Amino acid sequence: MLVSAKEMLNKAKAGKYAVGQFNINNLEWTKAILLTAQECNSPVILGVSEGAGKYMCGYKTIVGMVNGMIEELGITVPVALHLDHGSYEGAKKCIEAGFSSVMFDGSHYPIEENIAKTKELVAICDELGLSLEAEVGSIGGEEDGVVGAGECADPNECKMVADLGITMLAAGIGNIHGKYPANWAGLSFETLAAIQELTGTMPLVLHGGTGIPADMIQKAISLGVSKINVNTECQLAFQEATRAYIEAGKDKEGKGFDPRKLLAPGFEAIKATVKEKMELFGSVNKA
Ligand code: 13P
Repeated sequence: MLVSAKEMLNKAKAGKYAVGQFNINNLEWTKAILLTAQECNSPVILGVSEGAGKYMCGYKTIVGMVNGMIEELGITVPVALHLDHGSYEGAKKCIEAGFSSVMFDGSHYPIEENIAKTKELVAICDELGLSLEAEVGSIGGEEDGVVGAGECADPNECKMVADLGITMLAAGIGNIHGKYPANWAGLSFETLAAIQELTGTMPLVLHGGTGIPADMIQKAISLGVSKINVNTECQLAFQEATRAYIEAGKDKEGKGFDPRKLLAPGFEAIKATVKEKMELFGSVNKA
């Protein structure tokens, strides 16, 4: 059964570890993450971007697939199905479809509008027992080949949004999605400490988990980060393993590539990446 991310994140915050959010794109991705979470006895959050939602035939299809896998694979660790960087409309659609958690990313709105929309979603999620992530300070990343620097959130704005009754808060601290540029200044621990000081027990979320050095991850966890999002690293691992399989030319039997065999090395690569992250984040045996 899917669960809200609330309990697992409050436990992580109190226990000074972080739960990983791993984004899913297809059946293999989802199965790899769920099986690894079970093997590691770790709670897990499956992230779905709006684009991945469309690709996988809509939110209802995803809810059906994930619930089916939890049952058929015998997954007993806590699993939250979470909309990643959702729009206001997207969040409502996921709630209707049966997601157990949503992120409303209002960071591109003026703070008043971000607050107003987040507040409406708090009321809906509270009533249904779902978890809600809000964002303050936009998280940069690569767009058309240009890498935008990650913004640092205003700690006072973070406090205002945290006080709305959300479950977890994503605050920009110089983190970006995708690979970090060579001249990246690193995470702003000063900003993180100031946010943590004002928001107290609120679980903080670190986006852009790919490529952040292990010591920075550990420091961020010690300063209140209890959810870390990883996407690109799984994609890179999948790409490398799949390419190696194709280049080894295993399609010579006259029938082309067997799709199950073709995707198997990528599946194993995602499993290995997820396991490594769960160990680094400290969530192993915390189910
Ligand atoms: P990366 O792709 O950098 O791992 O970031 C993932 C993320 O933050 C999804 O919201």
